[in-house]
Amino acid sequence: METMWISSEQLDRAAQLLQSKAVVAFPTETVYGLGADATSSQAIRGIYQAKGRPSDNPLIVHIAQRSQLMELTTHVPPKAQQLMDQFWPGPLTIILNVKRQAVAPEVTAGLSTIAIRMPDHPIALNLIAQAGRPIAAPSANTSGKPSPTTAQHVMDDLDGKIAAIVDGGETGVGLESTVIDLTSDVPTILRPGGVSAEAIMSCIGPVEVTSGDKQSSAPKSPGMKYRHYSPDQPVWIVETDWSDVVAKLLKKGEKIGILASDDVLSQFQTEAVATYSLGAQSDVTQASQLLYSGLRALDKTEATIILVQAHPKTGLGVAYMNRLEKASSQC
Ligand code: TXA
Ligand code: MG
Repeated sequence: METMWISSEQLDRAAQLLQSKAVVAFPTETVYGLGADATSSQAIRGIYQAKGRPSDNPLIVHIAQRSQLMELTTHVPPKAQQLMDQFWPGPLTIILNVKRQAVAPEVTAGLSTIAIRMPDHPIALNLIAQAGRPIAAPSANTSGKPSPTTAQHVMDDLDGKIAAIVDGGETGVGLESTVIDLTSDVPTILRPGGVSAEAIMSCIGPVEVTSGDKQSSAPKSPGMKYRHYSPDQPVWIVETDWSDVVAKLLKKGEKIGILASDDVLSQFQTEAVATYSLGAQSDVTQASQLLYSGLRALDKTEATIILVQAHPKTGLGVAYMNRLEKASSQC
């Protein structure tokens, strides 16, 4: 199939495609999503197929208005309400009990719960509203690859496999939403993301945080057990000892690609075969926005190993390091 490139002025065409059960990529404030009608099994199977995604990994359902909630869930607990008041639209996905037959069974992968989010992006909100139905959307990458933060990234992975891409430029946050489960006794963060645990706790009090460890046999958030966010080349995380690491790798004959802030890059202009800037020193917001783009860019170079700068694990740094650790693990 020919993948259509749709501008933000032609959202009605994208909405019509969604209504006709086609799969359409669109920008959100986190990463590009791969959308389809959440009420149609046929449409949802198109998502799994295009991404090569295992069918036991459920999808997030995106809505444009709060009024759509009651079509999807039987109960919105008070803490969910508080979180929605504070963080929606925004990078927070909330897991609630699913209403029977509200969505195609493939969306929830057989779970009794459903992940719901209202994205903070005018194109996403308009598109969902115009389509007039809840839109299931995982990140619009081939399974296992870094999530796309531009329409071109989506094209690189899925050209010919989906009906259309709506081009909305670069996404803002750059990492996926935080996923929080409100069906357990204590609210549990299943995936760190665009809204920090600190911000969530100041809204609703104590929360648990799971490691999302892919070794665990029965992960609560099924997606966390798969290899994720990875370019083809090995990725190493570097904290401070840049000179030592670079020297050792050069001795072994590796060709080094570096993804780091400008001050680090300026020290290794001759040693590295390729570099990509994560912006100013210690700006984790900017580093998060550029991380996936940088992994994709360096993966296309002659580098045989990619070195990436670590950040402290606080605030957005928790999500940044979570994605980076997944990209660097070799299983
Ligand atoms: O920012 C985002 O969240 C992006 C944009 C497009 O909205 N979407 C995204 O979707 O990252 P995806 O499919 O790549 O990740 C969804 C995560 C997976 O880890 C999945 O296992 C988890 O949410 N999930 C979905 N439904 C769930 C459920 N009912 N219970 C537990 N985890 C669930
Ligand atoms: Mg994903």
